[in-house]
Amino acid sequence: MRTLWIEASPKGNDALSSQMAMAYLEGTEYERFSVWDENMVRFGRDAAIAKFAGLFGEPFTPEQGAIWQQVLDEIERVRRFDRLVISSPMWNWHVPHALKAWIDIIVQPVASFTLNSRGEHVGALGDGKPAQLILTRSSAYDGRHPELQDFQRPYLEYVFGMLGYSVETLAIEPTTRWTPEDRAQMREDALALARRTRTERV
Ligand SMILES: Cc1cc2nc3c(=O)[nH]c(=O)nc-3n(C[C@H](O)[C@H](O)[C@H](O)COP(=O)(O)O)c2cc1C
Repeated sequence: MRTLWIEASPKGNDALSSQMAMAYLEGTEYERFSVWDENMVRFGRDAAIAKFAGLFGEPFTPEQGAIWQQVLDEIERVRRFDRLVISSPMWNWHVPHALKAWIDIIVQPVASFTLNSRGEHVGALGDGKPAQLILTRSSAYDGRHPELQDFQRPYLEYVFGMLGYSVETLAIEPTTRWTPEDRAQMREDALALARRTRTERV
């Protein structure tokens, strides 16, 4: 099974979400892809114009055509994998902007989703393949603090479900611990949970 691990924390191996993804993926082959990679396509003006020019059959410039080809290439790269693992911290109740920037590349009408006869969105990328979300956040979003709103988990579950993936979620919270001992214990417990989740899924 070819797995693409999409890593959204910029902290690399120091990130709890990345460590959990590595524990989850232990003993398997996978490709690690950080959305903070400086070579990632920048979805800016030309891509935004090309997106709708293409849909409406309007002409676009060679630069716009070139960036659009890069967008399609990225979608086809993702399609070649049998499974996605997406690890992400919560940033300001949502996902880090670099992950959102990558989602803006891969979510495209016709190429990765389409509409059915009732006008509903239907995935054209996931084809029922598994997508495992591994999420971290420092506060509790389990109802203990009803004033806190979680846009991270529902957003990612919605987007990858809409693309056609079968999504499962592992969320660790709250990750703030005030003593080094408590932090070490929380990390050990989270890694153990990630390993258990892997064995339960296979
Ligand atoms: C820029 C930034 C914004 C954050 N915003 C939130 C937030 O809105 N809610 C929350 O619970 N934690 C927030 N956090 C805390 C992280 O989600 C938390 O520390 C997480 O465990 C870090 O995961 P990582 O080690 O995988 O990067 C934020 C952290 C950063 C750096």
